[in-house]
Amino acid sequence: MTANLSGENTLKGKSIILGISGGIAAYKVPELVRKLRKAEAEVQVIMTKNAQEFIAPLTFQTVSNNPVITEMFAPVMTSEVAHVSLADKADLVVVAPATANVIAKFAVGLADDFLSTTVLANKAPILLAPAMNVNMYTNPATQENLEVLKKRGFYCVGPGKGELACGWEGKGRMSEVEEIFRSIKTILVPKDLKGKKFLITAGPTQEPLDPIRFITNRSSGKMGYALAEAAQIRGAEVTLVTGPTQLPLPRGVKVISVDTAGQMYDATIKHYQSMDTVIMAAAVADYRPAEFSPKKIKKEKNNLTIALVKTPDILAAMGKKKGTVFLVGFAAETEDLLANAQQKLQTKNVDLIVANDVTQPGAGFETNTNIVTLLCRNGKSEKLPQMSKELLAHKILDKVIALQSEARRQKTEARRSRN
Ligand code: CTP
Repeated sequence: MTANLSGENTLKGKSIILGISGGIAAYKVPELVRKLRKAEAEVQVIMTKNAQEFIAPLTFQTVSNNPVITEMFAPVMTSEVAHVSLADKADLVVVAPATANVIAKFAVGLADDFLSTTVLANKAPILLAPAMNVNMYTNPATQENLEVLKKRGFYCVGPGKGELACGWEGKGRMSEVEEIFRSIKTILVPKDLKGKKFLITAGPTQEPLDPIRFITNRSSGKMGYALAEAAQIRGAEVTLVTGPTQLPLPRGVKVISVDTAGQMYDATIKHYQSMDTVIMAAAVADYRPAEFSPKKIKKEKNNLTIALVKTPDILAAMGKKKGTVFLVGFAAETEDLLANAQQKLQTKNVDLIVANDVTQPGAGFETNTNIVTLLCRNGKSEKLPQMSKELLAHKILDKVIALQSEARRQKTEARRSRN
């Protein structure tokens, strides 16, 4: 069973009602609409009267490519956009910004304008992105209203801390568009990895030579981080063992930061056996300086030879123990892609190898996209076109799920035929 999703495709064809209430943060929301449309979601914007004081409906009409609903009894209102039929076809209702006033209305079930009526008639999940003055936010009335709504199953993103439009500092800022977008995806993605434990490694390792120098490689960590984020939003409990990267840490993931291959080995081997799946996306340095010089190496000689020794092969070590853990490795190659990857699959005893020819433009290190072939133990392979690392992360997870359920099916059949 494949979930057939991706960071972008999760939202494809989804119908999202976006309610906008009267807060200054409304000016950020066209960017959210643009992102949703780019992800091929249908967006129907509803604006309260106050929201229209902050931003023109025409802006939202343009970015959503849909007429904006601003009034309860507008002459243009057809049965297609009436609150009940709209609420019926929605996959998700998002209210951003959600002011203290609309939160209060939702909490008591008031229905005195199009947005509150739609929210009341709606059966789909609802996500609120509160935005208001810090004192309004911390007021027990607002806090209790939010508690009531959360108990009823409303989702809430933010608010964040920071400088507020009213001049105050504190909690009340609407979450950034990127964060709201991520929450939307998290709510809509099927949780097909719920209850599963994933360990994912990412990034390069750094092997120190002296206090200011180290040997490393060009890995950015993007592929491993995309995998950690994708597994997390699909419901898995994720541990990310990461080498040094410049990337923001994925939310909701347990992070273990390491520098060297030796440290990555220790962290990975320690947790490995309690995992369902381990994905080795890290570009582990194969060699480290044989000796670490505690003092800076001075440029005294014309030639300098540095002796290197092999680091432990983490994936191969796990492959030796194997057990029931599903192992996924990567193969970064510059020649004979499939033959080399096939060899790694066998010698490291893994279940799936993600093979990429790092010399191809749009593939490998530092890029936002990748071009890979998935090689399975059963000898089957699947060549994937160039795609974002985010989308590829979901494709890899789809493959893991498919191979695991195939293995379960075969085991059951074997048991049946024995009896
Ligand atoms: N790997 C590992 N420990 C190492 C080196 C690599 O666990 N010391 C893992 C990588 O994370 C990857 C897989 O092994 O999942 C293959 O890594 P790759 O660099 O492609 O190959 P190597 O095994 O290092 O062999 P070579 O460099 O000769 O291609």
